[in-house]
Amino acid sequence: MKDLTPLKSSLDPIEIASRDEITALQLERLKWSLAHAYNNVPHYKNAFDAEGVHPDDLKSLSDLAKFPFTMKKDLRDNYPFGMFAVPREKLARVHASSGTTGKPTVVGYTAKDIDTWATVMARSMRASGTKPGDMIHNAYGYGLFTGGLGAHYGGEKLGCTVVPISGGMTARQVTIIEDFRPTTIMVTPSYMLAILDEYKAQGFDPAKTPLEVGIFGAEPWTNAMRKEIEQTFDMHAVDIYGLSEVMGPGVANECVETKDGLHIWEDHFFPEVINPETGEPVADGEMGELVFTSLTKEAFPIIRYRTRDLTRLLPGTARSMRRMEKITGRSDDMIILRGVNVFPTQIEEQLMKVKSLAPHFQIELTNDGRMDAMTVHVEATMDNSDENSKEASAKLLTNHIKDIVGVSTKVIVNAPGGIERSMGKAVRVKDNRKSR
Ligand code: DLL
Repeated sequence: MKDLTPLKSSLDPIEIASRDEITALQLERLKWSLAHAYNNVPHYKNAFDAEGVHPDDLKSLSDLAKFPFTMKKDLRDNYPFGMFAVPREKLARVHASSGTTGKPTVVGYTAKDIDTWATVMARSMRASGTKPGDMIHNAYGYGLFTGGLGAHYGGEKLGCTVVPISGGMTARQVTIIEDFRPTTIMVTPSYMLAILDEYKAQGFDPAKTPLEVGIFGAEPWTNAMRKEIEQTFDMHAVDIYGLSEVMGPGVANECVETKDGLHIWEDHFFPEVINPETGEPVADGEMGELVFTSLTKEAFPIIRYRTRDLTRLLPGTARSMRRMEKITGRSDDMIILRGVNVFPTQIEEQLMKVKSLAPHFQIELTNDGRMDAMTVHVEATMDNSDENSKEASAKLLTNHIKDIVGVSTKVIVNAPGGIERSMGKAVRVKDNRKSR
């Protein structure tokens, strides 16, 4: 793989500023953001007043813990435009998150917010190894989802040529990559695997693509998956994180030279990790739920938003800004199976060890009487799809999951292509439990 480390001189100075400079800027911006939310969004005024706190009470960064959390429910209760801090006419754009139940969550941006977003996205892409002049194949979905347009504006800001292909029409994705010869691809990791299948189906060698780096996010994926993608495509695979409520993609990104977790762009997004049970902040290095406060957003300031994403904060390495470890999963996706907590990423890790199985999977939950049961649906690779191999693969995966994750599961090995492909975020868990 090519060395794609960006030149130090190309970084935003704040990326490598001293911690003192970063925290001073954060404190100044945090004061502004709290006051902006309090003065312009009735929800925040009511919530702060109910808690007996005022923006003037923030004297240091740790005082943020006195302020109330914002939950997804607060955004739903104020659907569609009640959380905006500017009149609707000042919005340059709105996006919405799909939301599996009920109404979507609507977020908005002023023209300045769009520019800030493009700046952090350009920074993320540069950290990934993309350079001005590069061509980007952007297969994140365009539309209300923030992935497509977020990456698009970031790519343009960095000075790249953006191919706005969006998700879907997988055969065409391969043709365009082979004909246009982009060096960066931006897509969910699960859809990258669907593109990989198509590469093989069309008789191309994936290791010979023009791609040098993939910027993968919008769903959890493991280091085992990184290794698989990097080896198969002979390209760097870098993690990008973000969520609509905080901005969209580009809240945090890995650096291609270290790939050791995602640097949070702390000059715009203030992170905390809390104990999800008590709501108390935990020390850096400890696992918990990630919470974000926006520092510069005009249209949709967000204060202490509980993301449900589980990770821990780590000190900076390639940049001065702190890192978050690769996301283990969302607390909503945690499966409790006979007392053992299981995340889909743990199943992915074990699956990657079985070379006779393809990297696609889906978990099905059922209940038989009082007991919950988990079935892992996977598929055989082309060369290992006879009945004997399938049986052996199932046994191997069942044993790995039992030994390492600690739960008994049933593994069903389907024929190649038997697992439904996603064009965006993969649905990892199907809950077919009957309510008791
Ligand atoms: O998924 C924004 C995005 C687009 C990020 C493209 C990266 C690339 P939402 O649809 O609002 O926004 O979903 C946000 O997706 O709370 C996480 O649970 C999950 N997520 C996003 N990035 C990652 C990642 C976009 N790198 C939710 N690793 C978040 C794990 C991720 N989970």
